[in-house]
Amino acid sequence: MKKSDKVTVPDFSRMKARGERIVAVTCYDATFARLCDRAGADILLVGDSLGMVIQGADTTLPVVLEDVLYHTRAVVRGAERAHVVADMPFLSYQVSVEEAVRNAGRLLKEGGAHAVKLEGGVAMAPVVRRLVAVGIPVMGHVGLTPQSVHALGGFRLQGRDEASQRRILEDARALQEAGCYSVVLEGIPLDLARQITEELSVPTIGIGAGPHCDGQVLVIYDLLGMNEEFRPRFVKQYETLGTRIREAVARYAAEVRAGEFPSEEHSFSKRREKA
Ligand code: KIV
Repeated sequence: MKKSDKVTVPDFSRMKARGERIVAVTCYDATFARLCDRAGADILLVGDSLGMVIQGADTTLPVVLEDVLYHTRAVVRGAERAHVVADMPFLSYQVSVEEAVRNAGRLLKEGGAHAVKLEGGVAMAPVVRRLVAVGIPVMGHVGLTPQSVHALGGFRLQGRDEASQRRILEDARALQEAGCYSVVLEGIPLDLARQITEELSVPTIGIGAGPHCDGQVLVIYDLLGMNEEFRPRFVKQYETLGTRIREAVARYAAEVRAGEFPSEEHSFSKRREKA
């Protein structure tokens, strides 16, 4: 794929067929969107993880549609090539198919997203079918589904026994059958992720699901090491921006306190030369 081409829904099945890995990151604002887009990310996911990394909540449950809309608009403004996916927050698609269509529609119409993502498998198939029927591309999400954190007993690996593995496989199959163009596999054993990836014709995007998925997604702040306390096994930190940001702000603070910043060189106006 050429760098300048916009990434669209049909590209993902072509990428799977060619064995080209799909690169996804979460994104919440225009500046990060511009940087991630220029770095070649294929998908910018406006995840409801924004509830945790932007809003500071313990779970994704408090996020509302207006939050995702706000961040989606910002990401869309910064993205040129990447495909932008808006996450449907808790209770924006579970109450009725009608509400799901209205809310997903707003994410495309008012937010400018190219697709939506929602959590759940077999139970969500009727919703997915209807969204796809009205022209809204849907990315599915199975395994560790954070909106079900209380039912799951925490953010923990799913598919530990055979029955649960079978359920996750059935969920993934149901999403493909209902029309999802891709499925996120989160927090499941890597052999199960491999089996699902081999069986589905649509691409799988893994997070904490091992190396055999068709693509990978990470929360951008985790990838950049911005949260110094959060280092789960499945995250690789490609930077230690948390430390670097802290040190940079501490240097700025020291210079302000010492009267060293701003110098005349960093002033908005130039000093008038004496005649
Ligand atoms: O909300 C999110 O960021 C997500 C990804 C981690 C898959 O759902």
